[in-house]
Amino acid sequence: MRKINVETIKNDNILKNKNVTKEQIEEAINQVITQIDINLAYFKQDFPTPATKDNIYMVMDNTEWTNGFYTGMLWLAYDYTKNDKYKKIAELQVNNFYNRIQKQIEVEHHDLGFLYTPSCVAAYKEVGSEIGKEAALLAADKLITRYQAVGKFIQAWGPLNEESYYRFIIDCMLNIPLLYWATEQTGKNIYKLIADNHFNTSLENVIREDASTYHTFYMNPKTGEAVKGATRQGYSDSSSWARGQAWGIYGVALNYRHTKKAECIEYYHALTNYFINRLPKDDVCYWDLIFKDGDKQYKDSSAAAIAICGILEMQKYLPETYKDKKLHQNAANRMMLSLIENYMNKDFKKGSCLLKHGVYSWHSGKGCDEGNIWGDYFYFEALMRYYKDLKIYW
Ligand code: GLY
Repeated sequence: MRKINVETIKNDNILKNKNVTKEQIEEAINQVITQIDINLAYFKQDFPTPATKDNIYMVMDNTEWTNGFYTGMLWLAYDYTKNDKYKKIAELQVNNFYNRIQKQIEVEHHDLGFLYTPSCVAAYKEVGSEIGKEAALLAADKLITRYQAVGKFIQAWGPLNEESYYRFIIDCMLNIPLLYWATEQTGKNIYKLIADNHFNTSLENVIREDASTYHTFYMNPKTGEAVKGATRQGYSDSSSWARGQAWGIYGVALNYRHTKKAECIEYYHALTNYFINRLPKDDVCYWDLIFKDGDKQYKDSSAAAIAICGILEMQKYLPETYKDKKLHQNAANRMMLSLIENYMNKDFKKGSCLLKHGVYSWHSGKGCDEGNIWGDYFYFEALMRYYKDLKIYW
């Protein structure tokens, strides 16, 4: 394992204990359900756009990388309420996902885990949906076609093998749980092998020595050697995009869940402490971790929701004596409470997002200081993790 610096936690807020009560969680989940009920009538069996405009989603078809999150929210709502109205729409959407992968509609990218895990794997786990299982297995088959044996990674976007596209991104750590699940279901080791190789290549390259992260990383298509880290959605090539760091935290925790690989723990610890030390006064990060209070930059509430899920997942495996375990829990508690109190949207309009103040892509001006559907999904997942011992879709 490479030597990665594990910072000492020195964020004063995080050193002060804060608990989350069952009442706070239940009240927040009930607000989520209220909004989902309003949105059911608005989206019908269609989907929300990736990000909002003035905190309102438009309605779209199933052609984005983000469509699975809305279906995932319906499964979480079904899990919480057992009300068939969520299941009914979620199942219609699962049929739609099956059609999408069968007809290969907008699937030439690596985001098949984001698409098919919270929608179709969830359908299989929640209600034993065979069509969900079949669709998710087809998606896993598609995902492994992007594997580059030279360099041992899953190529994120673009035509395969072109030098300018020969790269992977930290977000992909959330795509590979689909592959672990596919091996569990089929007994075929190929999915797991590719997931393991991709994960190892990510750990070796995308995390810097100081435990900050690159968003994307280029490999040499002839030799497979590491070329360079670069950003697409972070502030700069040398900064740490907050959502990328959060994908890293949750991605490593999920990889540990599937592989129990010991070195995950140290990487997780380093990534999490780096993130926690850069939380501002209200405990919710700016969109890039270089920014501080007073810099007049946007927050990214979605990164906080993702990081909470990662921390709560890893808490299950760390022994009580593990250094910083309690501080990590405290950080999750503080982020959760801040999201509930300061970021949860209380407008309750048709198409409203759950969480305000996210950033989709600052450089392209997309979804800046707006809601986004993955932020909403992970906010709900985080609340459900506090509420009960949740069935994990990932
Ligand atoms: N995976 C794309 C994003 O986080 O914006």
